[in-house]
Amino acid sequence: MILVTGVSGGLGGLILRGLSGEDDLEVVGGTRSGDGVNARRIDFDDPASLAGGFRDVDVLVFVSAGYAEDDVVLARHGAVVDAAEAAGVRHVVYTSLAGSGDLMTIALPHRWTEARLAAASFEVTVLRNGLYTEVPVGLAAAAAASAGETGVFAAPFGGGSVSVVAKEDLADVAVRVAAESGRDLAAGRRSRHAGRTYELEGVEAVGGQDIAEVLSDVLDRPVGYQPVSLSTMREVLAGSGLEPYQITHTLSLFSNLGAGYLQAHRTDLADLLPSTPRPVRNQIARAVMSAAGAS
Ligand SMILES: NC(=O)c1ccc[n+]([C@@H]2O[C@H](COP(=O)([O-])OP(=O)(O)OC[C@H]3O[C@@H](n4cnc5c(N)ncnc54)[C@H](OP(=O)(O)O)[C@@H]3O)[C@@H](O)[C@H]2O)c1
Repeated sequence: MILVTGVSGGLGGLILRGLSGEDDLEVVGGTRSGDGVNARRIDFDDPASLAGGFRDVDVLVFVSAGYAEDDVVLARHGAVVDAAEAAGVRHVVYTSLAGSGDLMTIALPHRWTEARLAAASFEVTVLRNGLYTEVPVGLAAAAAASAGETGVFAAPFGGGSVSVVAKEDLADVAVRVAAESGRDLAAGRRSRHAGRTYELEGVEAVGGQDIAEVLSDVLDRPVGYQPVSLSTMREVLAGSGLEPYQITHTLSLFSNLGAGYLQAHRTDLADLLPSTPRPVRNQIARAVMSAAGAS
């Protein structure tokens, strides 16, 4: 049996849907609430839910649950590893963070989890996911109204760009790796993905100028990119209602972006997808169109 955690979320939901289309596989989803019929109750913060939740699971697709302070994330991810070992899970597929993000603050719990998994008794595949297109998409959509009036796209990208990837592509890779692992185990073989770490960086990098160009095209007026300083961004975030740890992570992302670290140089994405990665600029344009239409 394959179990996917976090299926109420964007990535886990896509992975579960993809696996559910594979008729020869027994697949179940896990959510924090878990109704026991359509989904098992899997709450990483409640280790008691994991003991029963991982029963009879051969392949666990462990979707990270990173929205919390580091000590909380380490405790919950550690609990997943312990419970998977105790339940006799044979293979864990973990959704981690791509190598270009090594210096971001969010990398710490991912690298810690990778090390815990590597020391466990089951086989492991690490999917080092690139940053979702949501970052540039969100910034571009939020800027649509003001850029239409001022002709300026202001953002803290410095001169850097970020390699981003569609969540659907990441889900497609996870589905393939989990399905092939499940079939290999059922055939009495070690998974062909065991012991592998895949870098799933986006193949397209997007910078401030690129987003300004998309805004110009969609809004049908010239829009120029204007870099915003990190201190200005810090002030904006302080009044945004975000949790303090989210502000730390967001600023760290922009620091890394401005320093040029988020542009990827190597990816396994294309090798693991059945077709070419989904184009990122189209997603940005669609988000701007919908935001501009709504304003
Ligand atoms: N690569 C990137 O750019 C990027 C960006 C953001 C986040 N991430 C990481 O990737 C993960 C998946 O992304 P996503 O877009 O699917 O996020 P999402 O839509 O926010 O979903 C997060 C999922 O994690 C579950 N979750 C939260 N706390 C949990 C806990 N204690 N035990 C079990 N499940 C828990 C949530 O369940 P509930 O619905 O019950 O809360 C939800 O299903 C995130 O959780 C985060 O760690 C990656």
